[in-house]
Amino acid sequence: MLEDIAALFKDRPWQSLESADLARAKAVPSMLAWEETQFYYWLGQTFSSVDGVFVDLGCFVGGSTARFAGGIQDAGHASVVHAFDRFTVNEKIKKAVLYESGIAPFEGRDMLPLSKDLLAPFADHVVHHQGDITEAQWNGAPIDVLAHDASKSRKSMDAQAEIFWPYFRTGRTIMVQQDYLHTVQPWIPVQMELWADHFEPLAFIRGSSLAFLCTKTPAASVLEERRVANLDHADQVSLIKKARDRMAAFGKPVAKKLDIATQLLEENPGVEQPWKLKRAKNAA
Ligand SMILES: C[S@@+](CC[C@H](N)C(=O)[O-])C[C@H]1O[C@@H](n2cnc3c(N)ncnc32)[C@H](O)[C@@H]1O
Repeated sequence: MLEDIAALFKDRPWQSLESADLARAKAVPSMLAWEETQFYYWLGQTFSSVDGVFVDLGCFVGGSTARFAGGIQDAGHASVVHAFDRFTVNEKIKKAVLYESGIAPFEGRDMLPLSKDLLAPFADHVVHHQGDITEAQWNGAPIDVLAHDASKSRKSMDAQAEIFWPYFRTGRTIMVQQDYLHTVQPWIPVQMELWADHFEPLAFIRGSSLAFLCTKTPAASVLEERRVANLDHADQVSLIKKARDRMAAFGKPVAKKLDIATQLLEENPGVEQPWKLKRAKNAA
């Protein structure tokens, strides 16, 4: 029983996991930082339920999926991770991430076969979904843990929320916003502040993740009304400033990143893509 979820997070138990514990999961290349790797594995060990599932939105070649699935498998749970991505890759990312991690060079852009090979040790715990996540259909299973790592624009964030969030369980579902502190995606803190009455922040996990507990299942009707894409610039700035003040409790590195994200948002009204945000001085 997960009586008090906030208390479970308090002592950051995932940090005591050793590299050797995670060896099989770590064998799948990932863009996650070390503490995020520990955290995802711990979520797999700790948050599987009998009827719920994990959802990994933006899994790249499956590194985050392997970390969840490794925790699930090693704990002897039956839960499944639904891994969503386009599973396409360009030459630059192949070299920087895949070949750097020891993957043999391959032709073409499709990396679904590679992902299936890499995740074969966890095959009983993984379902691949290839395509644009914003056009995905969810099968209606209750969601125990969901990781957002494909929140690249306001519209895409709204679409993903509308597809998946109605299947969260009040007081039980854990949501990871992997890019919460990625300063060129200031709309993520904006979104979470807009939804502050449905999610309680639980922990900051280095590199850039914030974990939240769902305190009230988002209703489909509210999701339709409450879109980040409908906010004007002033509302977005006001929300990110509130987020900065609220999240400062997680420490200076969090506050500092949110200061940079706020500055980027303020200085770039109307910009919709992360790569078009002009970097402020001293930006991380
Ligand atoms: C930062 S990477 C994810 C890293 C991954 N979680 C890991 O552990 O390495 C972001 C991923 O999101 C995917 N993505 C972004 N927007 C998407 C969309 N609309 N539909 C499908 N995939 C998307 C990209 O293809 C990319 O693989």
